[in-house]
Amino acid sequence: MATTKDYRLGEFTFPRGWFMIADAEELNTHKPLAVRFLGKDFALYRGRESGKVVLLDAYCPHMKTHLAAPNDTSYVVLDGGGSNVEGDGIRCPYHAWRFGPDGKCNDIPYHEGSIPATASVKSWPVVESLGAIWLWHDPEGGEPEWDHPSLPQWDDPAWVRWKFDHLGILEQHPQEVIDNICDYGHLSPIHGSTVEKYENEFKGHNAIQRQCGPHRTLVGPDGVSPILHTITIYHGPGVLISHLTGLYDAVMMITHTPVEDGSVKVWHALLVKSPGGNDTATLPDTIAARQFQESARLAFAQDFEVWTNKGPCLNGLFIPSDGPFMKARIWYKQFYNPRAMKQEFLEQCEGYYVPKGAVPYTDKEPVAA
Ligand code: FES
Ligand SMILES: [Fe+2]
Repeated sequence: MATTKDYRLGEFTFPRGWFMIADAEELNTHKPLAVRFLGKDFALYRGRESGKVVLLDAYCPHMKTHLAAPNDTSYVVLDGGGSNVEGDGIRCPYHAWRFGPDGKCNDIPYHEGSIPATASVKSWPVVESLGAIWLWHDPEGGEPEWDHPSLPQWDDPAWVRWKFDHLGILEQHPQEVIDNICDYGHLSPIHGSTVEKYENEFKGHNAIQRQCGPHRTLVGPDGVSPILHTITIYHGPGVLISHLTGLYDAVMMITHTPVEDGSVKVWHALLVKSPGGNDTATLPDTIAARQFQESARLAFAQDFEVWTNKGPCLNGLFIPSDGPFMKARIWYKQFYNPRAMKQEFLEQCEGYYVPKGAVPYTDKEPVAA
């Protein structure tokens, strides 16, 4: 698999941004979750006292036991009712050292006296929102540059909340996924869209695609699609949110998080406004919304199948009738380099782009790609 270096993206192996690290439903039990992202192992759990989610580096500083790997035999776990999460802390299954949500060891049962200050693991900033757990990752250690993903529709009773589709690990560098935001030429052959209008815009940490046209996959129960409008926005490098209007009003989210340098974990979800037009979504609304999410997942699976088997596009043979791939790749570089260099990349990519021969979505003046 090709790496960040191969794509010449910048000095950091993993980009700056908000990344999804779990479906909140995975933390419905008291068991901790072993997760691996950004080339690192973590222990993720929900505190039993506060209900807050905690993310710690996985390995106990004592003798490097994984704090959250499945364990069914240690008395730490057995006596804890099947879990080593204790209060808002977590106890290592090996010698029972306990770590607080701040990552500091606060109890060693067989030791009296002070606990060494080095007996700690890193605690990472995480947020729960939209039914998911999000990590802010910044190789420079800075505060979040933009807000974590959220949507006003999530708390509106007229909208049916999503359940995540877990699409698993894709053995491709995330660059291959990002390219999709400006891939005008694939919309007809892959998705069966008859694109009527199309444009891209790059602005700050957002990469935007606006398009409309009939669609052969995202259809209603009768197999018919009205004109589908999609306004799709990357919020940083790992979170795509698309506002759909057509058959139903819906918001699609696709998130991808680097696992190793050259692979990503991918989720898909769809929030749907009451298909029956109710102020509070009903059971039939939920059934229709789930069916529509499945159509949306099938549309995404059309991309995914190609990505699963393609080679890395390190030097694409792009033509003027393609979308602005090179601009999107410059936009993406801002996250792989120090924040001090961000402006340099934005100056080279911000603006509107319309592929040769396409009709722009808005009446804004396009920039030549
Ligand atoms: S390895 Fe964790 S307490 Fe000993
Ligand atoms: Fe696609």
